[in-house]
Amino acid sequence: MPGTKRMKVINVVGARPNFMKIAPIHERMRDDRAIDAYLLHTGQHYDQQMSDVFFRQLGLPEPDFYLGVGSGGHGEQTGKVMIEFEATCRELEPDLVVVVGDVHSTIACGLVAVKMGIELAHVEAGLRSFDRSMPEEVNRVLTDQISDYLFTTERAAHENLRREGIDEARVFFVGNVMIDTLLKHRERAASRPVLGELGLAAREFVLVTLHRPANVDDPTILSGLLDTLGEISTQLPVVFPVHPRTRRQISEFNLLGRIAERVSLRLIEPLGYLDFLACMDNARFVVTDSGGIQEETTVLGIPCLTVRDNTERPATVEKGTNLIVGRDPQRLRDEAAKIIAGQGKRGTRLDLWDGKAAQRIVDRLMGRSPVAVSA
Ligand code: UD1
Repeated sequence: MPGTKRMKVINVVGARPNFMKIAPIHERMRDDRAIDAYLLHTGQHYDQQMSDVFFRQLGLPEPDFYLGVGSGGHGEQTGKVMIEFEATCRELEPDLVVVVGDVHSTIACGLVAVKMGIELAHVEAGLRSFDRSMPEEVNRVLTDQISDYLFTTERAAHENLRREGIDEARVFFVGNVMIDTLLKHRERAASRPVLGELGLAAREFVLVTLHRPANVDDPTILSGLLDTLGEISTQLPVVFPVHPRTRRQISEFNLLGRIAERVSLRLIEPLGYLDFLACMDNARFVVTDSGGIQEETTVLGIPCLTVRDNTERPATVEKGTNLIVGRDPQRLRDEAAKIIAGQGKRGTRLDLWDGKAAQRIVDRLMGRSPVAVSA
């Protein structure tokens, strides 16, 4: 388009759950002749297993900017991202910053953008656990308050945003970008040899992830959960790719010996995107405290037991395969037994979780289409 100024956009990623959300948005923008899209990685997650493998497998290009903030306390991480991101924005002068999800990098880059007068888009807006002890909940509420475009994945988000006084004209129901990525890669994931390598048979194992502070920072709670998983493993093998934070707590609380007694409870290193997807798609059921996995299992039709007292993703419970079991080990045992006996939730597909969310977002940002409906 000669003579027309291209829109300069920075797409931000920081931590593992961001990579699969930004991938389809960045891809659509790079294909768009009216947009100059830059990818920025804050470096909140930085190692091969938590970051690099995702870039490779999702086809994300090398980031144009890498801030290298690394690990640290909440304030330290947020503050470091802000300092570095401000310098980048001063240099690049973008028209728009796109942030996804609810990690510290999301709010940090959002704050910098609005204070510099740069438009801000928040993808996955309006989700609420109503639990302010979760750092993610605070990040979600604050990011939504300052965003110019709020893109939502489910209808409950609209009510939450209305209640918080956010102008409906800024809120757009577009579907779920993480599901765009899942649908795109599901077939490729199916051809991975990971099940054989782990000695697992389809539908004959349980997949576990746990990393939330509420589950892994208290020795009594963590050891109780590991004991329950150990009991479940006497019926079906349990495979548990362990987040670095959980790994650290298990060794700090001296729980490794306890796990070693259970031959069918296997702790393995974190998996890459495709291998993890293959494991989810073939599990009998999943036990997790993650946000995104509640949604992914719903789309895959795999029962999910969520070890939390709440969820910010109620559609996965109302329509999907998700069940909130809280932190009571007995409840987890009972619900696992029901699924093993063939009574797992089946669930249905959710509105607009159809692989086209990223295109809707780009069209809306470019003022091209009325597809985004205010619920
Ligand atoms: C962060 C997100 C959380 C998300 C999770 C997914 C916030 C508030 N939390 O939590 O929403 O669900 O990521 O993983 O942003 N570490 C490594 N390698 C890495 C990154 C981290 O070893 O590449 C270790 C560090 O020792 C660090 C610990 O993991 O102390 C926790 O990482 P951090 O990013 O602080 O928070 P998460 O608990 O991963």
